[in-house]
Order: sequence, then C-alpha cells, then structure tokens
Amino acid sequence: MFRTVEWKDNKVFILDQTRLPFETIYLECTNHGMVADAIRSMKVRGAPAIGIAAAMGIALGARDIGTGNSIDFMKAIEEIFAKMLSTRPTAVNIRWAVERLRRLLKDNGNMQVHALKSLLVKEANKILEEDIEVNKRIGLLGAGLIKDGAVVLTHCNAGALATGGYGTATAPMLIAKEQGKRFRVFADETRPFLQGARLTTWELMQAGIQVTLITDSSAGALMKRGEVDMVIVGTDRTVRNGDVANKIGTYTLAVLAKENNIPFYVAAPLSSIDFTMPEGDMIPIEERDPSEVTEIYGRIMTGGSANSWGAVRIAPDGVSVKNIAFDVTPARYVTAIITEKGIFKPEDLAGIMDQA
Ligand code: MRU
Repeated sequence: MFRTVEWKDNKVFILDQTRLPFETIYLECTNHGMVADAIRSMKVRGAPAIGIAAAMGIALGARDIGTGNSIDFMKAIEEIFAKMLSTRPTAVNIRWAVERLRRLLKDNGNMQVHALKSLLVKEANKILEEDIEVNKRIGLLGAGLIKDGAVVLTHCNAGALATGGYGTATAPMLIAKEQGKRFRVFADETRPFLQGARLTTWELMQAGIQVTLITDSSAGALMKRGEVDMVIVGTDRTVRNGDVANKIGTYTLAVLAKENNIPFYVAAPLSSIDFTMPEGDMIPIEERDPSEVTEIYGRIMTGGSANSWGAVRIAPDGVSVKNIAFDVTPARYVTAIITEKGIFKPEDLAGIMDQA
C-alpha cells in the first residue's frame, strides 16, 4: 500500500506521518541530519521504523564522510551513530540498529572505506526487508489468538507505518483477515499525538478491517460492558523480565484488561527486546514538548476550499504541562508476548536471549 521508509537513488524517502491521514507526502532526505530531524519530530515514528530510518540515515551519512582512511572513517561514523541515538531514547531499536552496523564494520575492518560504505547501504536495506518478514511471522503466530467474531482493542499505531511493513500489533489482524476470520477492532485515539485516530484507523480501513475509533478514556467502560475480547499492542522496549514500555496509556489498558479478565498481548519483534536490561523501571522515558498537549495539530479550514496546516490551542497560555510519551507495563499484566520465534509468557522471555 505504501512504504514507510525507503532507500532510493542514494536518498532516504520517509512518508511524513505528521501529514497523515490527509496528505501522503514523502520527505526526500539527502543527508543524515535530515533523517535524524525526521525521527525527532516524529515524521517517522514507531520503534522498528525509527530503527530502519536510523540505519538508512547512517548509510547516508557514511557516504558523505570525505576520508579514505579507515581510522578517521570509524571516528566520523561514531559521531553519526551518536546523533541517531540522541533522537529518541525509549525505543531500543535505534540502539539495536547501531550495534548491528557497528559490528558489521568491525567484522569487515580490513575492507576499504568505499566498500564499507556500500556494505552499510546493503545492511540498512536488509534490516528493512528482514523487518517485513519478522512481522509476517508475528502475524501468522498472532492470528491464531484472534477468534472468529472477536473484538480486538489496540493502542497507538503498531502498524505498517510503525515498521518496515505489515506492522507488529496489526500483523495478526491482517493475517486473520486473510484467513477469512470475522473480527472488529477498537482503535484508541492515543492522545496527544493521535497515532490511533490518524494512523491506525487509516491503515486498517485501507486493509478492509472493520475499525471503530474510540477516545482513550472509553476503553475501560467498553471492557466492563463486555465489548472487548482481547488487547494487542506493540512495544518500544520490552526487557528481560517481560516488562513492556509502550505508548503512554498502555499501562492503564493492561490494568483494566486484568481487572476485566481480558487477555493482554504484546507483539514484540526481537529487535525491540532489550535483553541487557533486567527490569522495566530502568527504561528511559521520553518527555516531549508541552505544545503536543496544549495544542491540537490539525487542518484549519480557512474558508472556501483553502486549507492550511496549523495548531489549535486548547489550554490557557502558561499552563504547566507534563508530557511523558511512554509508560511501562509490569510483566504481571501481560498475558503473552508474540515474537517471530514464538509466543512466550513474559517470564519465559529471557530463555530466548540466544536467538536474538
Ligand atoms: O511515539 P511513537 O509514535 O513512536 O510510539 C509508538 C509506539 O508506542 C508503538 O506502539 C511502538 O513503537 C510499537 S510499533 C510496532
């Protein structure tokens, strides 16, 4: 349907998610700084997608390093790694991509600089293609959990837009649909950035999946009324003991799901599992600009047929704001974690560490 991130003609093309669902505009990044800015400003967002974008940004930056000396090249590339790592702290996927590229350079330390540059481009594209395959695998495994007639609730956007393609939380839905199952999805709007309202609904409607948009605060009431059969969300970083960091509001959903005896599943590619971190309280939580909360970004009708993009202020000037972008759901609220290697109880996750 669309490519979230793509390497083409020695540039990185990024589908600008801040313009969706109204406009499908691709940013043409010609240097690594543009890619880093796109990640920071959430033009591309979602843990696997920012890992892929960072890898492509690094390959782009490497191409611009002017030296043929390997030692100088390695010094310059470390600066690019650091720039990508500084963009968004919670999702582990940028670190995962950086470590993979750093290992690749180390393993091929005898190669000339120009060959290393080509290797980085190839590897960044491989990361993208692998991500799509991983998501399909998550989809096949996860589809088995969706019963015919089920109502699934999801939060934020863990769809194709958040990954190389297919999505993580949405992959089981896409496969269940292919398998002919009948089911419906509730999409939380996901304040303040509205990934659910703007992106998940857009994706699922294109896929022909029956989706209903709800306010975040409706989830508990719908669960209590027996209108939700299961929850599937994505993750930005799941750690060794099975604690799960995901978009703010996920923890609330998980507690509500347990209270109402509803299974709570997390779709987690191995690239988003941090086996070096023992527990969730250690995960760095990103705090974002207050304006995301005090303003609603939208299309302003300026009269006639002319539209322009802008922000509508919804809170008094000078109000104090706390905008934490993620929360951590303790493992005890997670029914199971769906990875490309199988479906695991959170307490069994550490056992698959060698496969990561
Ligand atoms: O701030 P965002 O939009 O990057 O947050 C995204 C999420 O929280 C997703 O659920 C997560 O990255 C999983 S995406 C497959």
